Amino acid sequence: MRNHVPHASVCGGKARCSTCRIRIVGDLADLPAPSRREQFVLDRVGASGDPAVRLACQLRPQKDLSFFLVFPPHMDAALMRQSVRIRVGEERYVVSMFVDMRRSTALAEERLPFDTMFIINRFVAAVSSAVEDAGGRPNQFVGDGILALFGLDASPSIACSQAINSIGKIAANVAQLNRDLAGDLREPIQYGIGLNGGNVIIGDIGYREHIVFTALGDPVNVAARLQDMTKDLGCDALIAEEICRTAGLAPDASSTREISIRGRDRPIMVRLAERANLIAAATAFDGTVVPG
Ligand code: FES
Repeated sequence: MRNHVPHASVCGGKARCSTCRIRIVGDLADLPAPSRREQFVLDRVGASGDPAVRLACQLRPQKDLSFFLVFPPHMDAALMRQSVRIRVGEERYVVSMFVDMRRSTALAEERLPFDTMFIINRFVAAVSSAVEDAGGRPNQFVGDGILALFGLDASPSIACSQAINSIGKIAANVAQLNRDLAGDLREPIQYGIGLNGGNVIIGDIGYREHIVFTALGDPVNVAARLQDMTKDLGCDALIAEEICRTAGLAPDASSTREISIRGRDRPIMVRLAERANLIAAATAFDGTVVPG
């Protein structure tokens, strides 16, 4: 970057992603040996057997050299023409929230497709406006499910408080929606919420003009799994206990338990909210972030 050679750099040059990998062409004799950190990353991606492959962000050559980029820089000509800036990636603490509407498949079977679409859109709007009200950002919509992110512009403690606060707002909005549609629905709309926090990579993913900004990483996957598990555990929300603690919620042994998550070695502590509206009064934080 410093020498104006654009290259992918998802971790921002911290030797954590390996997307800045280059293949050096020509004499390798004058290259400084990889640092321990660089060597660790090269080992992890199986490139340590090839001395021509190095991390551009770590290598400090003493002479000019020629190389190929292993990965293309995340820019493409069409987007550059449109002056769209691609956010290639940043690691930060984010609280991920998955919200899923229950029984939407049955709903689709009972109704005309336009009707189903209308109801799902009303649900998505009810959840999204609650998330925005609390200070979060609705990020992706997959069918009747929503991924929302908290902490893109705020500290971890504010992100946790905003995320907890949004649960009560979602409960209130969906309750109102159920009242609005009372004459139209066989049974009230129900939903499941999974909430987990942790360091993730946020950035743009996609192809040409189909680019979406999103978060990737294990904490996001765990949030999705927690949402899934709300069905089996018969509750509205499952919240990683660490979020409750960071948000300043009083400990509550009766609703806290250790659960195993498929594909993970270690269980995690979660807070189970049988009804989402019970979380409403638990935090006084109103989601407002005062610019510092
Ligand atoms: S930029 Fe991520 S390892 Fe070099």
